[in-house]
Amino acid sequence: MTGAPPPVDLPPARFVTFEGGEGAGKSTQVRLLADRLRNAGIGVVTTREPGGSPGAEAIRAMILSGAAERFGAEVEAMLFAAARADHVDATIRPALARGDWVLCDRFADSTRVYQSAVEPAVIDALETVALDGLRPHLTILLDLPAEVGLQRAAARRGVDAADRFEKEDAAAHEARRDAFLRLARADPSRFAVVDATQDTATVADAVWYAIATRLGQGAGRAG
Ligand code: TYD
Repeated sequence: MTGAPPPVDLPPARFVTFEGGEGAGKSTQVRLLADRLRNAGIGVVTTREPGGSPGAEAIRAMILSGAAERFGAEVEAMLFAAARADHVDATIRPALARGDWVLCDRFADSTRVYQSAVEPAVIDALETVALDGLRPHLTILLDLPAEVGLQRAAARRGVDAADRFEKEDAAAHEARRDAFLRLARADPSRFAVVDATQDTATVADAVWYAIATRLGQGAGRAG
């Protein structure tokens, strides 16, 4: 299925997050979906985590350099939550208030999956504070075997150094894939799982299909 997307009637102010492991193609798919939405006349803000606002970008630099690793997983989870709180207040809520769509490359599900060493009750508490009631209307999980994702990430990175999380071994990445799939199974009304081993255009069509069927007016489950 290629070419122009089918016409769909989409409401304003939807918050869509993209999740998945390294090399799943999240940033490419965020860009392609943003193009399609803009072509449909919808205002779009694309953003990413950790980061997405000046305060959160400063925290991102600290986390990804590995400088926060020595404080332990709990403090790291707090830093992700602090970055998220600023991102939600400074970027996401104002965009939704204007009626724009917000497409975010990683969000709170990444904390549940990557900071899995932290007590779930602590993660719950941090999420309550950082999100303050905000919830994605739809979360697209770009799913692929860890091995494929790691090969893609290494090819993309070229000579650049791996970041703090990319350095971990294949077993850790495969465990994260399973953890994302468990989150999706536990919350099927929020998640759409897309096979990210397919080529870019096919994945983009599957993402668009999920948007149209899950968020389109008359889809019966928008909101
Ligand atoms: P990034 O360079 O944005 O990687 P990717 O292209 O994989 O999204 O780095 C973000 C890294 O931070 C990524 O390895 C996942 C990790 N991360 C967490 O551990 N917890 C979180 O809450 C978030 C948002 C990201």
